[in-house]
Amino acid sequence: MRIALRCSWLLLAWIAMAVAQTPAGNAENGKKVFLKQGCARCHGTDGQGGAGARLAPNPPSTAALIKYVRKPTGTMPPYLSQVTDAELADVRAYLASIPPPPAVRDIPILNQ
Ligand code: HEC
Repeated sequence: MRIALRCSWLLLAWIAMAVAQTPAGNAENGKKVFLKQGCARCHGTDGQGGAGARLAPNPPSTAALIKYVRKPTGTMPPYLSQVTDAELADVRAYLASIPPPPAVRDIPILNQ
């Protein structure tokens, strides 16, 4: 019993380490995957949202994004073997690289 408990702690620590070491991802490849897999059709080319939720700027963490894509809780279709975790880490890097839109007060035509 003790040993089993200790083993599960070890396993938990190992998982935590694996999650912490999730690679930062390659934004350029992430954009390709985002377009190729059709994420952009629902989430917009720049992740600005549309039929799907807004994903950029400030996307969910890599772990949360992968978890959601594998097992969505709403109307989004699940993606299983067609996209790898590494590709999704790249998608997260792409979404994180998108700059926020300018504030309304900084767009002259909206301030006349
Ligand atoms: C058919 C439309 C559609 C496609 C294709 C799609 N999504 Fe979604 N996605 C949605 C919708 C709608 C939601 C909002 C929650 C829901 O209903 O599932 C969502 C939610 C999400 C969320 C959760 C956002 C949050 O703030 O919690 C993530 C992350 C996400 N999508 C990523 C992706 C990625 C990455 C892809 C491509 C591999 C993708 N989606 C493809 C429609 C789509």
